[in-house]
Parts: sequence; C-alpha cells; structure tokens
Amino acid sequence: MPLPKAELHLHIEGTLEPELAFTLAHRNGITLPYTTVADLRAAYDFTDLQSFLDLYYALTDVLRTEADFTDLTRAYLTRAAAQGVRHAEIFFDPQAHTARGITMDTVVNGITAALDTSETDHGISTHLILCFLRDRPAAEAMDTLDAARPHLDRIIGVGLDSAEVGHPPTKFTDVFAAAREAGLRLVAHAGEEGPADYIRQALDLGVERIDHGIRCLDDPDLLAHLAATRTPLTVCPLSNVRLRAVDTLADHPLPALMDAGLLVTVNSDDPAYFGGYVDDNYRALAEHLHLDRERLRTLARNSFEASFLPRDRKDALI
Ligand code: ADE
Ligand code: ZN
Repeated sequence: MPLPKAELHLHIEGTLEPELAFTLAHRNGITLPYTTVADLRAAYDFTDLQSFLDLYYALTDVLRTEADFTDLTRAYLTRAAAQGVRHAEIFFDPQAHTARGITMDTVVNGITAALDTSETDHGISTHLILCFLRDRPAAEAMDTLDAARPHLDRIIGVGLDSAEVGHPPTKFTDVFAAAREAGLRLVAHAGEEGPADYIRQALDLGVERIDHGIRCLDDPDLLAHLAATRTPLTVCPLSNVRLRAVDTLADHPLPALMDAGLLVTVNSDDPAYFGGYVDDNYRALAEHLHLDRERLRTLARNSFEASFLPRDRKDALI
C-alpha cells in the first residue's frame, strides 16, 4: 500500500501521457510529428531542462477544448489516487495555451471541472497554482495575472517555472507583489538548474515554498536559513535525473537536505515524461538511496505539513 501523501509539485501539462496525446490529437484533427506511441516515447531522452521544455510545449498543442483539459486532469487524479495521493496542489501554465489562442476560461474551466469532483471520485482534495513562464517577458506575466482575476476564487497561488538560467526571480518582483496583493500564496521554481542565489531571490519575492531548490547545498548560510525557517522544498528526484541536474538517483542530494534539517517533500514534476508518478519517486528513493520506512513516513508527513491546507486538515491527514 502506498503511503498517504500530498503532491505539491506537479505540472498538469506534464501528466500528458503519449496515449492521451494521440487520442486528443485525433479528436482535434491534429497530426503529430510522431507515428506511434513508441516513437513519441523515444523522444523522451532529455539532455537538460530546455530539451524537455521543447517537447513539453510542442505537445500542449493537442490541448484545445475544455474537455481536453478535463480529461487530462481526470487521468492525473486517477493515477495519483493509486499512488496514495490524498491532496494535490497542481500547477498549470496558462501562457503555454493563451499564446496558442486558447482562452484562460477554457483552461481554467476545463481543469476545475475535474477538480470539482476529485474529492468524491478520487478522495483527493486539490488546490490550483498558476505558474508564470519565466522565459517570457514580465509584462506578459502581469497580463496573465489580470486575465486570471475572474478565476481567483479557484486559484490558491502563483508560481514561476520554465527555463531557469538567465531568468532570475527578480525579473518578476512586480507581478509577485501584485499576486500577493490579490491574496494569492507564492511559490517559485529556483535552484533546479539555476544557482543558489536564485533561491535567495525567490525568498525575497516572498515565496513560502521553493520548488526543487536542490542547489541550496552550494550555500551553507542559505541552507541554515531554509532549515531555521522551515521553508519547504518540493524535490523531484526522477525529474532531476532525467533532466541531468543530478547524475544518478544514488547521487541525489535528498538525504543531505533532510540531514541538514530541511522540510523536504517528494514530488513527480512531469510524471508522464520522467518515468514515474509520486509513489514511484518514493520507491526509487527507497531502492537507490536505501531510505527506510521511517524516512519515507517523514517525507509523507512533510508533504501535508508543507501544503497550503488549513491546520486542522493537515492534522487530520498527518
Ligand atoms: N515546467 C514543467 N516542468 C518544469 C521543470 N521541471 N522546471 C521548470 N519548468 C517546468
Ligand atoms: Zn516543476
């Protein structure tokens, strides 16, 4: 039985399995530049974050209608339930869709139609987090926040993702201030491929959690600060290996982060692309880093603790 857990770092677009990509392409009259599922899977041989993002954005083209976003989200929730997920905080990338002429309404209504029945259908409570694409202009992020305003009752927070190096968090100071002003919670990817200083900058934006954050090990003062403030890291081991941020699972710094006293969580990031959903990440850690059941329980407990659930809901789940 998988441990009950929360998933806090999951891009809904990264749950698009090849089979569903072909189904949606067919439904929408799109011809993919791959003839078979095996062909497409063979393209999942990434050398870095950018090489992954190129395919990730190309395949979003099959997502056109509300029903497409609903089907994608339902498929994730079905898999997550089988992996012990009881609460999911789900990222979405509206700019990847609005840039193709798909409206914010289509994206949010499609995703939330699946979230609305998640507790009854899958036993999973959910929150939705809007991510800004950091390799696009800051003004476009502000426009995206404005376009999302009619939906803010369905969105708990904002995040920052896409190509990290060369796009520091300071680029988004104004939009994060506006999001905070709108009552949104703040998170950001930082220290995945980028330097520890990007983690410091993300903290200066006011973020409450750091997505990835593994490069904090390069900066002992920052490491001590993250431990003292119990700032959670949403770590994604299989992703780090597939995108070559870490050489092998056996070299993954997750035990060092735990030993330094950080509030570490384990997550799947883009499970359709990286060879596993969240419990597959837990099992890979158990196997390759010899994490025992007690450490895995700590990680599962941390996942609820680091969530945006109210205290009483956390206590009921932990
Ligand atoms: N978008 C989807 N997955 C991502 C990742 N691992 N890093 C940055 N942006 C992403
Ligand atoms: Zn991510």
